[in-house]
Amino acid sequence: MILNLKISDFNTDQIKDIVFIERQSQYSSWTEKMFLAEAENKFSFFKIIKNDNKIIGYIIYRIVFDEAEILNIVVDKNFRGLKVGKYILNFAIENIKGKKCSAIFLEVHQNNIIAQKLYEQTGFKKYGLREKYYSSFDAILMKLSI
Ligand SMILES: CC(C)(COP(=O)(O)OP(=O)(O)OC[C@H]1O[C@@H](n2cnc3c(N)ncnc32)[C@H](O)[C@@H]1OP(=O)(O)O)[C@@H](O)C(=O)NCCC(=O)NCCS
Repeated sequence: MILNLKISDFNTDQIKDIVFIERQSQYSSWTEKMFLAEAENKFSFFKIIKNDNKIIGYIIYRIVFDEAEILNIVVDKNFRGLKVGKYILNFAIENIKGKKCSAIFLEVHQNNIIAQKLYEQTGFKKYGLREKYYSSFDAILMKLSI
């Protein structure tokens, strides 16, 4: 499939599309309220990715001083495995690098092997574990030094 990808800032008109895609993620369950709060947060960056004119994913990250954290990344299930996740993650990394950060952190569910592979391929390294962070499951802590 040939994609015509474009990344832009989230705006509140797009909230329904974002919540629809979020519900396809078995590893996160953000509510509309959480997305809107993040959009208002001055430390947060909320980027959406479109194929032609259709929203097919998003990434949310925060930058506080010289550290960044990836909070959420989801790709529409009909567009997974097409490097869209890698594309938007790399976009965020480049954006974060431009803001003089020294490291990017994230947490990933121990069973979310696909996301772990995406992060490892992008250069993130595992550095710790937060036990039982997702009720009975651990969170793996990952870091990218930039
Ligand atoms: C994780 C997610 C964002 C990846 O997006 P994607 O566009 O499907 O991923 P990409 O096509 O860019 O693939 C990136 C890498 O992930 C891995 N990957 C992707 N799909 C995979 C699959 N079905 N099986 C195994 N590895 C896979 C591969 O290493 C791949 O790189 P490669 O194609 O060069 O081998 C997407 O699967 C998703 O939205 N999942 C649900 C939400 C989620 O888990 N978010 C992360 C929370 S921490």
